[in-house]
Amino acid sequence: MKKCYLDNAATSFPKPPVLADSIYRYLTEIGSNINRGGYESAYQAEDAVFTCRERLCRLFHGDDPKNAVFTQNVTMSLNLLLKGLLHPGDHALVSSMEHNAVMRPLTQLAKQGVEFSRIPADRNGRMELSALPALKRANTRLLVCTHASNVNGAIQPIEALGRFCREQGILFLLDSAQSAGVLDIDMARDSIDGLCFTGHKGLLGPQGIGGFLLREGLAGEIEPLLSGGTGSLSHTEEVPDFMPDRFEAGTLNLPGIYGLNASLTWLEQTGLATIRSRETALCERFLLGIRGLPGLRLIGREGGSTEYLAVVSLQFPGRDPAEIAYRLDSEFGIATRVGLHCAPIAHRTLGTYPEGTLRFSFGYFNTEKDIDYAIQAIRGLCEGHRA
Ligand code: ALA
Repeated sequence: MKKCYLDNAATSFPKPPVLADSIYRYLTEIGSNINRGGYESAYQAEDAVFTCRERLCRLFHGDDPKNAVFTQNVTMSLNLLLKGLLHPGDHALVSSMEHNAVMRPLTQLAKQGVEFSRIPADRNGRMELSALPALKRANTRLLVCTHASNVNGAIQPIEALGRFCREQGILFLLDSAQSAGVLDIDMARDSIDGLCFTGHKGLLGPQGIGGFLLREGLAGEIEPLLSGGTGSLSHTEEVPDFMPDRFEAGTLNLPGIYGLNASLTWLEQTGLATIRSRETALCERFLLGIRGLPGLRLIGREGGSTEYLAVVSLQFPGRDPAEIAYRLDSEFGIATRVGLHCAPIAHRTLGTYPEGTLRFSFGYFNTEKDIDYAIQAIRGLCEGHRA
């Protein structure tokens, strides 16, 4: 049976071939730790890690590669920043389209006396900016939001949000899980103080590597969640106060960084605009193909393609989306994601809670044939059901 992977919002697949080559080379030819060994292969690994920080800094227009910190994933990054910055008595603003990577840390913090307010959004997940001034309080410390929804792809206006935060003197943290590697993110232009990313989605890297970039000067305000050996200042039991060591305790995921370094190189050569326009074209083809099919409801997609990523949620009124996902997989080899996608509040906003949706998410390596194949499969399942 043909295999058709349409779950790129969960993790991108396939990856650029250079990624596996780079990980293989690290594992078979280099293999050393960094900051701990005084020999050639350790220096080579240190160079590669620094180069990866430089690439991240270029991609996101950060102010210094040393402020690019590696973690396991965007969830860990968000936890480190939210729990390191928010204290009892603080207030945070958050969108109504968040993933639980933001909402669960905030809910934990709320039990310790941190308050948060949700910024309303319309039925397409687009934030109502006009609500912001009334929600801001004297104790508001930060605004945190996802750049683009993992449920329906709705893109938030981060430049305007950054401007608001700067004018109001509050911090702006961005969850770029779905947008990094696809949309242009400029920490300076968008006034982003902390940018959290994962390597395995739009950045086309391996799983298990992610991180965050901080604006210069912010690190001292964040209490590190983890501490331990860094290979630096080994004479003291105090956590280093300099970057990136302040937040990088323990051995890094070096195979992951080698993979990410290679995929970032591929991204630089390919260009984000090329990736975005290809994914948008595939998504538009899909939307056109499923338009008007009986028994199918398109979720939160008013407006043009510029307002959404190539992520599409569907419902089939009167039918369980899990049944459709199962049949797509078992009868057609089509991989999708079904349910609430770890984002219950986004589904409440979109009006799809608690039943959830069937989600298609397209990637740069999908082809027109994949899209047409999926359209045919959905058409069969819709028309077959009606008959
Ligand atoms: N958050 C990822 C998704 O939306 C895993 O599938």
